[in-house]
Amino acid sequence: MDMTTQLLSLENVVSMEDLSVADVMSLIREANDFKNGKQVDLVRPTYAANLFFENSTRTHTSFEMAERKLGMTVVNFDPAASSVKKGETLGDTLKTLQAIGVDMVAIRDRKNEYYKDLVEDPNIHMAIANAGDGSGQHPSQSLLDMMTIYQEFGNFKGLKVAIVGDLSHSRVARSNMEVLTKLGAKVYFGGPKKWFTDDFAEYGEWREIDELVPEMDVMMFLRVQHERLAADENGSFSDVKYHQQYGLTKDRERQMKDDAIIMHPAPVNRDVEIADELVECDRSRIFEQMKNGVFVRMAIIASMLRFKNLIEE
Ligand code: CP
Repeated sequence: MDMTTQLLSLENVVSMEDLSVADVMSLIREANDFKNGKQVDLVRPTYAANLFFENSTRTHTSFEMAERKLGMTVVNFDPAASSVKKGETLGDTLKTLQAIGVDMVAIRDRKNEYYKDLVEDPNIHMAIANAGDGSGQHPSQSLLDMMTIYQEFGNFKGLKVAIVGDLSHSRVARSNMEVLTKLGAKVYFGGPKKWFTDDFAEYGEWREIDELVPEMDVMMFLRVQHERLAADENGSFSDVKYHQQYGLTKDRERQMKDDAIIMHPAPVNRDVEIADELVECDRSRIFEQMKNGVFVRMAIIASMLRFKNLIEE
Protein backbone atom coordinates (compact mmCIF):
# COMPACT_ATOMS: atom_id res chain seq x y z
CA MET A 1 0.00 0.00 0.00
CA ASP A 2 1.49 3.37 -1.04
CA MET A 3 1.93 5.48 2.10
CA THR A 4 3.87 8.30 0.40
CA THR A 5 0.86 10.26 -0.83
CA GLN A 6 0.65 14.04 -0.33
CA LEU A 7 -1.33 15.52 2.53
CA LEU A 8 -4.88 15.96 1.34
CA SER A 9 -6.73 19.12 0.54
CA LEU A 10 -10.51 18.50 0.39
CA GLU A 11 -13.28 21.05 -0.02
CA ASN A 12 -15.84 18.92 1.85
CA VAL A 13 -15.97 15.34 3.17
CA VAL A 14 -19.51 14.07 2.67
CA SER A 15 -19.33 10.57 1.15
CA MET A 16 -16.83 7.72 0.93
CA GLU A 17 -17.80 7.47 -2.75
CA ASP A 18 -15.82 10.70 -3.37
CA LEU A 19 -12.57 9.34 -1.90
CA SER A 20 -9.98 7.36 -3.88
CA VAL A 21 -7.82 4.64 -2.34
CA ALA A 22 -4.95 7.17 -2.23
CA ASP A 23 -7.21 9.69 -0.42
CA VAL A 24 -8.24 7.09 2.17
CA MET A 25 -4.62 6.05 2.78
CA SER A 26 -3.52 9.69 3.05
CA LEU A 27 -6.23 10.40 5.65
CA ILE A 28 -5.27 7.27 7.61
CA ARG A 29 -1.62 8.29 7.52
CA GLU A 30 -2.33 11.82 8.74
CA ALA A 31 -4.70 10.47 11.44
CA ASN A 32 -1.87 8.20 12.58
CA ASP A 33 0.50 11.20 12.65
CA PHE A 34 -2.01 13.07 14.86
CA LYS A 35 -2.20 9.99 17.09
CA ASN A 36 1.59 10.17 17.40
CA GLY A 37 1.47 13.80 18.47
CA LYS A 38 1.54 15.82 15.25
CA GLN A 39 0.33 19.39 15.75
CA VAL A 40 -0.68 22.08 13.27
CA ASP A 41 -0.74 25.87 13.46
CA LEU A 42 -3.71 27.78 12.10
CA VAL A 43 -3.12 31.02 10.16
CA ARG A 44 -5.90 32.84 12.04
CA PRO A 45 -8.60 32.06 14.61
CA THR A 46 -10.93 29.47 13.02
CA TYR A 47 -14.41 28.45 14.11
CA ALA A 48 -16.41 25.21 13.93
CA ALA A 49 -20.05 24.40 14.66
CA ASN A 50 -21.52 20.92 15.07
CA LEU A 51 -25.11 20.58 13.88
CA PHE A 52 -26.56 17.29 15.13
CA PHE A 53 -30.23 16.87 14.26
CA GLU A 54 -30.06 13.19 15.33
CA ASN A 55 -28.72 11.83 18.61
CA SER A 56 -25.00 11.12 18.90
CA THR A 57 -22.40 10.58 21.58
CA ARG A 58 -19.22 9.43 19.78
CA THR A 59 -19.37 11.40 16.54
CA HIS A 60 -20.48 14.66 18.16
CA THR A 61 -17.97 14.64 21.01
CA SER A 62 -15.09 13.39 18.89
CA PHE A 63 -15.67 16.05 16.21
CA GLU A 64 -15.61 18.62 19.01
CA MET A 65 -12.48 17.07 20.54
CA ALA A 66 -10.79 17.03 17.11
CA GLU A 67 -11.69 20.68 16.48
CA ARG A 68 -10.31 21.75 19.87
CA LYS A 69 -7.13 19.67 19.46
CA LEU A 70 -6.53 21.46 16.13
CA GLY A 71 -6.86 24.82 17.91
CA MET A 72 -10.29 25.75 16.54
CA THR A 73 -12.96 27.50 18.58
CA VAL A 74 -16.23 25.56 18.77
CA VAL A 75 -19.41 27.62 18.51
CA ASN A 76 -22.34 26.06 20.35
CA PHE A 77 -25.33 25.07 18.21
CA ASP A 78 -28.39 23.52 19.84
CA PRO A 79 -30.83 22.24 17.18
CA ALA A 80 -33.75 22.19 19.63
CA ALA A 81 -33.26 25.87 20.48
CA SER A 82 -32.31 26.99 16.95
CA SER A 83 -34.40 28.77 14.32
CA VAL A 84 -34.59 25.47 12.38
CA LYS A 85 -37.49 24.88 14.79
CA LYS A 86 -39.13 28.01 13.31
CA GLY A 87 -38.80 26.62 9.80
CA GLU A 88 -35.41 27.99 8.74
CA THR A 89 -33.83 25.69 6.15
CA LEU A 90 -30.51 23.93 6.68
CA GLY A 91 -29.07 25.97 3.79
CA ASP A 92 -30.09 29.27 5.39
CA THR A 93 -28.77 28.06 8.74
CA LEU A 94 -25.36 27.42 7.16
CA LYS A 95 -25.38 30.80 5.39
CA THR A 96 -26.17 32.41 8.75
CA LEU A 97 -23.30 30.63 10.52
CA GLN A 98 -21.00 31.52 7.63
CA ALA A 99 -21.98 35.20 7.86
CA ILE A 100 -21.24 35.10 11.59
CA GLY A 101 -17.75 33.73 10.86
CA VAL A 102 -17.97 29.92 11.17
CA ASP A 103 -15.40 28.21 8.90
CA MET A 104 -16.57 24.59 9.04
CA VAL A 105 -19.54 22.52 10.14
CA ALA A 106 -20.06 18.86 10.96
CA ILE A 107 -23.67 17.89 10.27
CA ARG A 108 -25.77 14.85 11.13
CA ASP A 109 -29.28 14.69 9.72
CA ARG A 110 -31.88 11.97 9.29
CA LYS A 111 -32.44 12.88 5.60
CA ASN A 112 -30.36 10.81 3.15
CA GLU A 113 -28.01 12.97 1.05
CA TYR A 114 -29.05 16.17 2.87
CA TYR A 115 -25.60 17.49 1.91
CA LYS A 116 -26.09 17.43 -1.89
CA ASP A 117 -27.88 20.79 -2.11
CA LEU A 118 -25.48 22.34 0.39
CA VAL A 119 -22.23 21.46 -1.42
CA GLU A 120 -23.74 22.60 -4.74
CA ASP A 121 -25.00 25.95 -3.35
CA PRO A 122 -22.71 28.68 -4.78
CA ASN A 123 -23.40 30.85 -1.72
CA ILE A 124 -22.10 28.30 0.79
CA HIS A 125 -18.29 28.41 1.08
CA MET A 126 -17.76 26.86 4.51
CA ALA A 127 -16.34 23.34 4.76
CA ILE A 128 -18.90 20.58 5.39
CA ALA A 129 -18.14 17.25 7.08
CA ASN A 130 -20.98 14.74 6.91
CA ALA A 131 -21.39 13.23 10.38
CA GLY A 132 -24.04 10.78 9.12
CA ASP A 133 -27.06 11.11 6.80
CA GLY A 134 -30.02 8.80 7.43
CA SER A 135 -29.18 5.35 6.06
CA GLY A 136 -26.77 6.85 3.52
CA GLN A 137 -23.15 7.61 4.45
CA HIS A 138 -21.00 7.98 7.57
CA PRO A 139 -17.54 8.82 6.17
CA SER A 140 -15.79 9.68 9.45
CA GLN A 141 -16.97 6.37 10.99
CA SER A 142 -15.86 4.50 7.89
CA LEU A 143 -12.41 6.12 7.95
CA LEU A 144 -11.92 5.36 11.64
CA ASP A 145 -12.92 1.76 10.91
CA MET A 146 -10.35 1.61 8.07
CA MET A 147 -7.69 3.14 10.35
CA THR A 148 -8.43 0.51 13.01
CA ILE A 149 -8.22 -2.37 10.51
CA TYR A 150 -5.02 -0.99 8.95
CA GLN A 151 -3.48 -0.51 12.39
CA GLU A 152 -4.24 -4.17 13.13
CA PHE A 153 -3.26 -5.89 9.89
CA GLY A 154 -1.07 -3.36 8.02
CA ASN A 155 -2.95 -4.10 4.80
CA PHE A 156 -6.44 -4.63 3.38
CA LYS A 157 -5.69 -6.92 0.45
CA GLY A 158 -7.24 -10.36 0.91
CA LEU A 159 -8.69 -9.62 4.36
CA LYS A 160 -12.09 -11.18 4.96
CA VAL A 161 -14.51 -8.79 6.66
CA ALA A 162 -18.05 -9.73 7.69
CA ILE A 163 -20.61 -6.96 8.29
CA VAL A 164 -23.36 -8.48 10.42
CA GLY A 165 -26.68 -7.12 11.63
CA ASP A 166 -29.13 -4.37 10.76
CA LEU A 167 -27.81 -3.79 7.23
CA SER A 168 -30.81 -2.08 5.71
CA HIS A 169 -30.74 0.89 8.09
CA SER A 170 -26.97 1.16 8.29
CA ARG A 171 -24.96 4.03 6.85
CA VAL A 172 -21.87 2.32 8.33
CA ALA A 173 -22.47 -0.83 6.25
CA ARG A 174 -23.02 1.21 3.09
CA SER A 175 -19.91 3.34 3.62
CA ASN A 176 -17.71 0.39 4.59
CA MET A 177 -18.70 -2.20 1.97
CA GLU A 178 -17.68 0.16 -0.79
CA VAL A 179 -14.37 1.33 0.63
CA LEU A 180 -13.34 -2.14 1.84
CA THR A 181 -13.91 -3.49 -1.67
CA LYS A 182 -11.90 -0.62 -3.20
CA LEU A 183 -9.07 -1.33 -0.74
CA GLY A 184 -8.93 -5.01 -1.75
CA ALA A 185 -10.73 -6.69 1.17
CA LYS A 186 -13.44 -9.31 0.60
CA VAL A 187 -16.76 -8.38 2.17
CA TYR A 188 -19.40 -10.80 3.50
CA PHE A 189 -22.71 -10.10 5.17
CA GLY A 190 -24.70 -11.73 7.96
CA GLY A 191 -27.71 -11.12 10.15
CA PRO A 192 -31.43 -11.34 9.31
CA LYS A 193 -31.63 -12.10 5.58
CA LYS A 194 -34.60 -9.74 5.11
CA TRP A 195 -32.16 -6.87 5.76
CA PHE A 196 -29.78 -8.06 3.01
CA THR A 197 -31.12 -6.08 0.06
CA ASP A 198 -29.90 -5.94 -3.56
CA ASP A 199 -27.54 -3.00 -2.95
CA PHE A 200 -25.53 -5.21 -0.55
CA ALA A 201 -25.50 -8.25 -2.85
CA GLU A 202 -23.35 -6.24 -5.30
CA TYR A 203 -20.54 -6.15 -2.74
CA GLY A 204 -20.57 -9.60 -1.17
CA GLU A 205 -22.51 -12.74 -0.29
CA TRP A 206 -24.74 -13.33 2.74
CA ARG A 207 -23.86 -16.28 4.98
CA GLU A 208 -25.08 -17.79 8.24
CA ILE A 209 -23.16 -16.42 11.23
CA ASP A 210 -21.79 -19.86 12.11
CA GLU A 211 -20.17 -20.09 8.66
CA LEU A 212 -18.69 -16.59 8.92
CA VAL A 213 -17.17 -16.75 12.38
CA PRO A 214 -14.34 -19.31 11.77
CA GLU A 215 -13.25 -17.75 8.45
CA MET A 216 -13.23 -14.00 8.99
CA ASP A 217 -10.36 -11.67 9.93
CA VAL A 218 -12.81 -8.99 11.04
CA MET A 219 -16.28 -9.54 12.49
CA MET A 220 -17.99 -6.14 12.31
CA PHE A 221 -21.36 -6.02 14.07
CA LEU A 222 -24.06 -3.39 13.58
CA ARG A 223 -26.56 -2.08 16.09
CA VAL A 224 -30.20 -3.05 15.69
CA GLN A 225 -31.68 0.39 15.05
CA HIS A 226 -34.98 0.12 16.90
CA GLU A 227 -35.73 3.78 16.19
CA ARG A 228 -35.83 3.00 12.44
CA LEU A 229 -37.70 -0.34 12.62
CA ALA A 230 -41.41 -0.42 11.83
CA ALA A 231 -43.65 -0.65 14.92
CA ASP A 232 -44.70 -4.24 14.12
CA GLU A 233 -41.04 -5.33 13.74
CA ASN A 234 -40.19 -3.76 17.12
CA GLY A 235 -43.23 -5.38 18.70
CA SER A 236 -42.16 -8.90 17.71
CA PHE A 237 -38.41 -8.36 18.29
CA SER A 238 -36.74 -10.58 20.90
CA ASP A 239 -33.24 -9.67 22.15
CA VAL A 240 -32.60 -13.25 23.25
CA LYS A 241 -33.67 -14.80 19.93
CA TYR A 242 -31.68 -12.25 17.92
CA HIS A 243 -28.54 -12.92 19.98
CA GLN A 244 -28.88 -16.69 19.56
CA GLN A 245 -29.56 -16.50 15.81
CA TYR A 246 -27.31 -13.65 14.66
CA GLY A 247 -25.19 -12.35 17.55
CA LEU A 248 -21.64 -13.01 18.72
CA THR A 249 -22.21 -15.45 21.57
CA LYS A 250 -19.35 -16.62 23.76
CA ASP A 251 -19.43 -20.00 21.95
CA ARG A 252 -19.12 -18.32 18.57
CA GLU A 253 -16.24 -16.10 19.76
CA ARG A 254 -14.28 -19.27 20.60
CA GLN A 255 -14.60 -20.32 16.93
CA MET A 256 -12.90 -17.13 15.63
CA LYS A 257 -9.38 -17.25 14.16
CA ASP A 258 -6.64 -16.50 16.71
CA ASP A 259 -5.84 -13.04 15.32
CA ALA A 260 -9.37 -12.08 14.22
CA ILE A 261 -10.89 -8.94 15.71
CA ILE A 262 -14.35 -7.76 16.75
CA MET A 263 -15.60 -4.33 15.69
CA HIS A 264 -18.83 -2.39 16.23
CA PRO A 265 -19.46 1.32 15.53
CA ALA A 266 -21.44 1.55 18.82
CA PRO A 267 -23.62 2.27 20.65
CA VAL A 268 -23.77 -1.48 21.35
CA ASN A 269 -26.90 -3.28 22.50
CA ARG A 270 -25.08 -5.60 24.92
CA ASP A 271 -26.23 -9.23 24.77
CA VAL A 272 -28.00 -8.52 21.47
CA GLU A 273 -25.33 -7.98 18.77
CA ILE A 274 -22.45 -9.02 21.05
CA ALA A 275 -22.37 -10.90 24.37
CA ASP A 276 -21.83 -8.43 27.23
CA GLU A 277 -18.46 -9.95 28.29
CA LEU A 278 -17.09 -9.76 24.73
CA VAL A 279 -17.51 -5.99 24.33
CA GLU A 280 -14.25 -5.43 26.26
CA CYS A 281 -12.52 -8.76 25.48
CA ASP A 282 -8.93 -8.96 24.14
CA ARG A 283 -9.98 -9.21 20.51
CA SER A 284 -12.51 -6.37 20.72
CA ARG A 285 -11.41 -3.11 19.08
CA ILE A 286 -14.61 -1.22 19.90
CA PHE A 287 -13.01 1.37 22.21
CA GLU A 288 -9.92 1.60 19.99
CA GLN A 289 -12.29 2.54 17.15
CA MET A 290 -13.63 5.39 19.29
CA LYS A 291 -10.11 6.55 20.17
CA ASN A 292 -9.09 6.50 16.49
CA GLY A 293 -12.22 8.50 15.70
CA VAL A 294 -10.72 11.66 17.21
CA PHE A 295 -7.54 11.40 15.09
CA VAL A 296 -9.41 10.54 11.89
CA ARG A 297 -11.67 13.55 12.41
CA MET A 298 -8.58 15.72 12.97
CA ALA A 299 -7.28 14.48 9.59
CA ILE A 300 -10.63 15.16 7.89
CA ILE A 301 -10.83 18.68 9.32
CA ALA A 302 -7.15 19.39 8.58
CA SER A 303 -7.71 18.41 4.93
CA MET A 304 -10.60 20.89 4.69
CA LEU A 305 -8.70 23.69 6.47
CA ARG A 306 -5.79 23.05 4.09
CA PHE A 307 -8.15 23.54 1.13
CA LYS A 308 -8.99 26.96 2.57
CA ASN A 309 -5.31 27.79 3.24
CA LEU A 310 -6.05 27.98 6.95
CA ILE A 311 -3.15 25.74 8.02
CA GLU A 312 0.45 26.98 8.17
CA GLU A 313 2.59 24.45 6.24
N1 CP B 1 -20.91 5.33 15.87
C1 CP B 1 -21.64 6.45 15.97
O1 CP B 1 -21.93 7.13 14.97
O2 CP B 1 -22.03 6.75 17.25
P1 CP B 1 -22.90 8.00 17.67
O3 CP B 1 -24.27 7.83 17.06
O4 CP B 1 -22.91 7.99 19.17
O5 CP B 1 -22.25 9.23 17.11
